[in-house]
Amino acid sequence: QNEKDSQFIVSNWAKDHYHRLLEHDDEGQSVGWSYLRQRGLNQTTISTFELGYSLDQWDNLLKSATAAGYEQKYLEKTGLVVVKEDDNGQDTGRRYDRFRGRVMFPIHNVSGRVIGFGARTLKPHDKTAKYLNSPESEIYHKSDVLYGLYQARQAVRSEEQCYLVEGYLDVLSLHQGGVKNVVSTSGTSLTDGQIRLVKRYTDNVTVLYDGDAAGIRASLRGIDMLLEGGLNVRVVLFPDGDDPDSYIRKVGDQRFKDYLETASQDFIQFKTDLVSREAAHDPVKKAEAIREVLQSIAKVPDPIKRQVFLQQTSQTFGIDEQVIISEYNKLARQPT
Ligand code: UTP
Ligand code: MN
Ligand code: MN
Ligand code: MN
Ligand code: MN
Repeated sequence: QNEKDSQFIVSNWAKDHYHRLLEHDDEGQSVGWSYLRQRGLNQTTISTFELGYSLDQWDNLLKSATAAGYEQKYLEKTGLVVVKEDDNGQDTGRRYDRFRGRVMFPIHNVSGRVIGFGARTLKPHDKTAKYLNSPESEIYHKSDVLYGLYQARQAVRSEEQCYLVEGYLDVLSLHQGGVKNVVSTSGTSLTDGQIRLVKRYTDNVTVLYDGDAAGIRASLRGIDMLLEGGLNVRVVLFPDGDDPDSYIRKVGDQRFKDYLETASQDFIQFKTDLVSREAAHDPVKKAEAIREVLQSIAKVPDPIKRQVFLQQTSQTFGIDEQVIISEYNKLARQPT
């Protein structure tokens, strides 16, 4: 049995432990379960995603795992247990559970093995981080993981479409509502590893990001990377202040699915509209906006699609197509 196996085994045990606490412990029931129920999640979803609860104690996991015969070393290596260091980075010998009093979201790899955890606090989150995640380990490489892909992969294949959301709760709510082809980047910007992972299942991605302007601006770069990966990218915007989870809870499953159809826009068209609106009638800003769109078009590997996008850009900005094309050619020759 090697290092990695031991880390898989202890992670799987921890997942079962947290799940047991959620379902059978008094605190797990009164605090964890009631929170999940209040968030609208049902038993099927909780079982499918193997959700759990960590007790609000310093060392419940450490003690239980040790009593069950697991080596402390692997609890530390997977980050389930924190090694307390002093100011000089020296081990103080003190140990405590990383996750305490939180709802636990096991993170699975595509073969279904647990490699890490996300954990949501139930306290007002000015007191502590809203979500804590497992640190990088030999089995958990954050940048190569999409939360929910294990549960989504068959639907992604059959629907030939993958919905990309920001959060854990977004995945759970949509899956429960019947949109099963959904995965989350867990709040971080997209990586090449995640894009390669999606591409094993489909070429079509629809980005469902939270409906706040800052979030949209920040996500543009990650979306360019999807284009570079040769994916067809669409975007759905939600009303300001909503995320996919809050929106499906508000409007219900069927209206949500209808909304995905009617509100979805091709990404280049979306970006063109966004930056052209921002530029309004200011000629300097408009020129800059056009270049920004052309940068995205330059990432599209398919020349026919590029041609269509250039035509659209010309129409949206009301600029002669030849001018757009010659500007594009200049820019495409430069390294970005
Ligand atoms: P959000 O702040 O949008 O949270 O962060 P959320 O998923 O909608 O959660 P609820 O509805 O308030 O419970 C999106 C994602 O960013 C990551 C998590 O993966 C979260 O789901 N995140 C957020 C963190 O890792 N740490 C944080 O402190 C906050
Ligand atoms: Mn169960
Ligand atoms: Mn957000
Ligand atoms: Mn949310
Ligand atoms: Mn959110």
